[in-house]
Amino acid sequence: MSDIRNIVVLTGAGVSAESGIATFRGPGGLWEGHRVEDVCTPEALAADPDLVHRFYDLRRAALSSVRPNPAHEALARLDRAWAGGLLIVTQNVDDLHERAGATRMLHMHGALRQALCAACGARFAWADALPPATPCPACAAPALRPDIVFFGEIPYQMERIEAALAQADLFVSIGTSGAVYPAAGFVRLADAYGARTLELNLDRSEGSDWFDESRLGPAGTLVPQWVEQMLNA
Ligand code: APR
Repeated sequence: MSDIRNIVVLTGAGVSAESGIATFRGPGGLWEGHRVEDVCTPEALAADPDLVHRFYDLRRAALSSVRPNPAHEALARLDRAWAGGLLIVTQNVDDLHERAGATRMLHMHGALRQALCAACGARFAWADALPPATPCPACAAPALRPDIVFFGEIPYQMERIEAALAQADLFVSIGTSGAVYPAAGFVRLADAYGARTLELNLDRSEGSDWFDESRLGPAGTLVPQWVEQMLNA
């Protein structure tokens, strides 16, 4: 691993599972209790804003009772200690990476503790409930919504992500099912750019065949092991 300088890490719901945040797919997953099209599309927001806002209010409120786990902590340790390039791209809307101390990171699917004005595009840190038609502190339009990338919307910072993938020597995917694009396609993009690819996941994902290596197990165990391996190489 001593030839590795630039790393891109992609994380999904599995990295936060051991903190007690439900994943999306599979038994007990968030999408078992809710239809995606009822709570996570622009059409749903327009048709039933109360339901959509309540769904995200509950998820935002739940953040106050969870904590980063050893996987988040290990990635924050890597962020502090890794002298080469690093970008942690999370699909998660929780704030556990940053609470663990990671800074070289971005939220490609948005963030629960952020509100977005649909009228002027301003963003605000938001810790409490966000009722529909809340006025924007910047432009006063009654248009604040959760800053979540819904299905059918374009994920954030794609140019920055693609630039990092083009420079990556190593791409590591952690705790994601590989079911949702464009994130699910990053492994093939990284591979095409010449990066080595590694998956750390509880079980085989839809993209496992695309990785040079898949390590199966809980993120809270596998991620600290991998980070130690990188920092001691
Ligand atoms: N450690 C590692 N992996 C785990 C753990 C764990 N403790 N627990 C579960 N996993 C794995 C599961 O095996 C699964 O492959 O994490 C993955 C979670 O998959 P999903 O629930 O599909 O979550 P994710 O891949 O993040 O979903 C992608 O879908 O609905 C959208 O926008 C939402 O960002 C989300 C996107």
